[in-house]
Amino acid sequence: MLDFLGNLERTHLCGTLRVADAGKQVVLMGWVNRRRDHGNLIFLDLRDRSGIAQIVLDKELTPEGHARGEQVRPEYVVAAVGKVRLRAPDAINPKMETGEIEIEATELLVLNDARLAPFSPSEEAIQNEEVRLKYRYIDLRRPEMQRNFRLRHLITLAIRQSLSSQGFLEIETPILTKSTPEGARDFLVPSRVHPGQFYALPQSPQIFKQILMISGCDRYFQIARCFRDEDLRADRQLEFTQVDLEMSFPRRDHVFGVVEQFMKAAFAAAGVALPIPFPRITYDESMRQYGTDKPDLRLPGLSDVRAAFTDDALATLQIDPALPVVAFRIPGVGELSRKEREENHPLFDSKKGAKFLDDFKRLAKSFPESAARVRELAGAAEVDFVIVVAGDPNHHIKASDTKFPGRLSEREINVYAAAGNFRSELAKKYADRHGAFRVTEETVVAAHARGAQDPVDGAQAFHPIWLTDFPMFEYDLGLGKWMPAHHPFTAPYEADMANLVSDPASVRADCYDLAMNGLELGSGSIRIHRKDVQQQIFASLGISDQEARKRFGFFLDALEYGTPPHGGIALGLDRIVMLLAGAANLREVIAFPKTAKAIDLMADAPTTVTEQQLKELHIRVALKS
Ligand code: AMO
Repeated sequence: MLDFLGNLERTHLCGTLRVADAGKQVVLMGWVNRRRDHGNLIFLDLRDRSGIAQIVLDKELTPEGHARGEQVRPEYVVAAVGKVRLRAPDAINPKMETGEIEIEATELLVLNDARLAPFSPSEEAIQNEEVRLKYRYIDLRRPEMQRNFRLRHLITLAIRQSLSSQGFLEIETPILTKSTPEGARDFLVPSRVHPGQFYALPQSPQIFKQILMISGCDRYFQIARCFRDEDLRADRQLEFTQVDLEMSFPRRDHVFGVVEQFMKAAFAAAGVALPIPFPRITYDESMRQYGTDKPDLRLPGLSDVRAAFTDDALATLQIDPALPVVAFRIPGVGELSRKEREENHPLFDSKKGAKFLDDFKRLAKSFPESAARVRELAGAAEVDFVIVVAGDPNHHIKASDTKFPGRLSEREINVYAAAGNFRSELAKKYADRHGAFRVTEETVVAAHARGAQDPVDGAQAFHPIWLTDFPMFEYDLGLGKWMPAHHPFTAPYEADMANLVSDPASVRADCYDLAMNGLELGSGSIRIHRKDVQQQIFASLGISDQEARKRFGFFLDALEYGTPPHGGIALGLDRIVMLLAGAANLREVIAFPKTAKAIDLMADAPTTVTEQQLKELHIRVALKS
């Protein structure tokens, strides 16, 4: 039999009660986490968002409450009325925050029953993620998930406050809109009143935020939901949230300063002191040093070991002497067995003309001096595992393989990138062996336990870095043409403008990324604000006037009505929270995420719709059988 709530009011949250509350009369409400029946005494662990408190139902004190206690099962919703008392010394539970007290109940109301759930929120690790996602409402009751969403809330709040105090206004931009230029596929929404026409969901607020600058808004931000129809990964969802901002009359440094301030505030809200300003590196340097444009500074980078080899040695080893010869080390992993090395080989992407040497014993036999010098140049300790990555002389690519002063060629990039990928794959694989990746979670948990007044030193666990000087264009071998490396509204460096047509590969974009611990957190640029420059860029990209007008006509019009110099950036909020929560997948920090197969298992979306709906939308579905 269920009870009504009546006039009963909750006085406290379960997890907040402490020794100082002893003697207080309280009313607690929540879910039964666990029940232990000791005959005349029943113990209920009562759980709410704040934590767990122990309720004692003594048959002598409250026969009726005790009888109700016999009836409840896990996840029943109950209200307990009673007095806080100190536990007997031998009953103290040091693992519980409320472990020194309990509630001597005088009354228990059963507000609702519950079906037997497929898993219990008190289970630490639930293996089957599909079950977790299908029964997300139960999954979200788990303390770990409650902690993640509290963290997300605190981070978002801190970012909003920081940006507001830096003069930014939060302005909403449309969800039903026109295709945006972020390069992924659009989600389309058919229009009922305009047969055959579609809105697109925004991949980002990019064009609108630029128009807000033309509108004189000066500083805009938005915690913006974005939609991209792309393949899902651990750090990618179909819908995700950006901290999106744009400002008028900035230089790159101003944008960096704004971001560093709000990141510092966001990390402080999570109990982490993040040192600012963040270090910077150019794209070329990042490729040389880390083989990637999202470097993970927790591990040593690549070392140039070309000097370890004579030309003869390179010829014998079939290594291209004109391309980089680099080594990387994975600290503390030690020598790998032959079997282990062979298992790792599929992790190496050799398609782009790079090859590797990981058998140091063999290398030491044929080229003892080179082997010793490689270890020396890589700064490798005895216990470090070392690999050499170099260019394959027999691999050629067709186009754009010219060396530009101060810039890397496509083939050089390929060698660095192969080394960078291999490095992070192996580091991930051997994380447990050297421990370098297991830092974030403990740090934040510890910070929470101590409260935000005593923040942990973020310099140990979190390694932000700005990347600058990206190439403006990338050559697409398949399409045989230059493509924008960022979106087509990114401004080129003023100094490189003269080369737009004659030497596109040498043109640097005034755009930047923020990476942290091997993850791309954000990306932005100074924009083109002049129509003549925009036309030149479209021309270099082979986008005709007609095509540009069709895709971005309204924006090109707006550009002509007094556009200030402007620029901005967007950071992935989900990714920031994921890092601070020590989670390995965005699904841990998004309340209702999609599976890797792009399905919402709980709501059962996507689904078919009725014939009537399709008819109203003027749509006929033709499925290939
Ligand atoms: P970009 O496309 O690089 O830039 O996106 C900015 C940041 O958004 C996050 N992000 C994602 N997070 C989760 N799932 C996804 N599918 C996903 N896609 C992107 C990343 C990324 O760094 N309009 C520009 C920004 C600008 O120029 O101001 C833009 O959207 O953290």
